[in-house]
Amino acid sequence: MQWWRDAVVYQVYVRSFSDSDGDGVGDLEGIRSRLGYLELLGVDALSLTPFCTSPMVDHGYDVADPRAVDPVFGDLDTFDALVADAHRHGLRVTIILVPNHTSNEHEWFRAALESAPGSPERARYHFQPGRGTDGSTPPNDWTSEFGGPAWTRVQDPDGGAGEWYLHLFAPEQPDLNWTNPEVWADLEKTLRFWLDRGVDGFRIDVAHGMCKPADLTGSAPEVRFDHDDVHDVHRMIRAVLDHYPGRMIVGEISVGDDARFARYVRPDELHLGFHLRLARAPFEADAVRAAIEGSLAAVAAVEATPTWTLSSHDVPRPVTRYGGGPAGVARARAMALVGLALPGAVHLYNGEELGLPDAELPDAVRQDPVRDRSGPTRPGRDGCRVPLPWEGGPPGYGFTDGDPWLPMPDAYGRLTVAEQLEDTTSTLSLIRRALELRKTHPAFTGRGIEWYGAPDGCLAFRRDGSTLVCALNASAEPVPLPPGDVLLTSGPLVDGDLPPDTAAWLV
Ligand code: BGC
Ligand code: MG
Repeated sequence: MQWWRDAVVYQVYVRSFSDSDGDGVGDLEGIRSRLGYLELLGVDALSLTPFCTSPMVDHGYDVADPRAVDPVFGDLDTFDALVADAHRHGLRVTIILVPNHTSNEHEWFRAALESAPGSPERARYHFQPGRGTDGSTPPNDWTSEFGGPAWTRVQDPDGGAGEWYLHLFAPEQPDLNWTNPEVWADLEKTLRFWLDRGVDGFRIDVAHGMCKPADLTGSAPEVRFDHDDVHDVHRMIRAVLDHYPGRMIVGEISVGDDARFARYVRPDELHLGFHLRLARAPFEADAVRAAIEGSLAAVAAVEATPTWTLSSHDVPRPVTRYGGGPAGVARARAMALVGLALPGAVHLYNGEELGLPDAELPDAVRQDPVRDRSGPTRPGRDGCRVPLPWEGGPPGYGFTDGDPWLPMPDAYGRLTVAEQLEDTTSTLSLIRRALELRKTHPAFTGRGIEWYGAPDGCLAFRRDGSTLVCALNASAEPVPLPPGDVLLTSGPLVDGDLPPDTAAWLV
């Protein structure tokens, strides 16, 4: 059963969702205690950010053991209980895997450091001698996504200056060598480990990463990502999943080009592709329409399912992105209705349903390595990772009985789950209603859309073979609604017109 084709998948940033033991860090038991909320919200599946053993330099995206739970998040028994309970609540559980790199504390990397250049231990990563007579210049000029060079020099076991290793992210995240069969075998083992425990699928982090050009010396082309060989890795992953009916893989694919993107969701590769194109579009009708058209055309070419997302743990939250304040909230609500009206799967990021803005954080509490590695020229991603407010007030807002790992802003007091459940005009009430209609209303059919003519700065589309119309007013003036009965609006209509920063569903 291809349940993912119109699923709403809710990304849980495990550190920030709910803390059961008062250490200020969210955990698996915390998620387990909130399953009733997720059922009430009406999502179909969870996508858990990495919770495996990790020194947490990149908050779990630096995995030291991909088949063990980090003690800060719980243990395997808690994980099994979470999956069983989620299934009882009608929720599927998917987890995020990070196959591009490991932690520098992974036993393989430790062994690599203790072994000589040219050894099988080093061959699981990308070790290279440096350039120049003393080897003090990195093997090539690649930069890391987090800033600075993508290479770090190690000391040889005898104490002398040694080779360099490749890391496209932080130095604590050495890239694996995907020409090494051991690396493939280990991922397959990890996939089966979690599939056998009952997970319903995976989200593959940096799915456009993994494979690199054969020659990483100075003349290496600037193709750090989207190497053609990566598709063989996805075919392997898919072949494993095909032995487990009803399981899904979605890839986080960051490639600029729609045609290149489509290659990842060919029939024998990933079921779904996740990208941030709609999330990165400004709140302008033309930009939103271009993002939707490009994404639909890409997947249509390979008969794949579209996947939409407005938010993740890597980008500022929609409310903030769209300008903050009341206009930011109104626009985020409007865009949520646009995303949920489109055919295909939707990924929500925890807190999106509450209309949370990014938290403004003092530099001293910021933790994302992006900040320091970039100079700092970038603030890092902590602002969208602040824990969720459940009820009550500071410091923990029901997220924790202790001190939250990032301070939660005063503004979150009005945005708690408890407050919003009581308020029929809240963002939470809007999203619940939208998810309910999406699931139960017969107009949500059809795999494509047809665009309607719309006033300047506005857009309107209809689902193929259906009467469902979604209209968005991103202009500065109220506009008449398209014909039809109003099913839901993201904010109040004004004299029957659709005001600025508002969207409507009609049938
Ligand atoms: C994840 C980031 C992470 C990076 C390195 C990205 O795709 O979404 O949060 O820092 O991969 O693992
Ligand atoms: Mg905890």
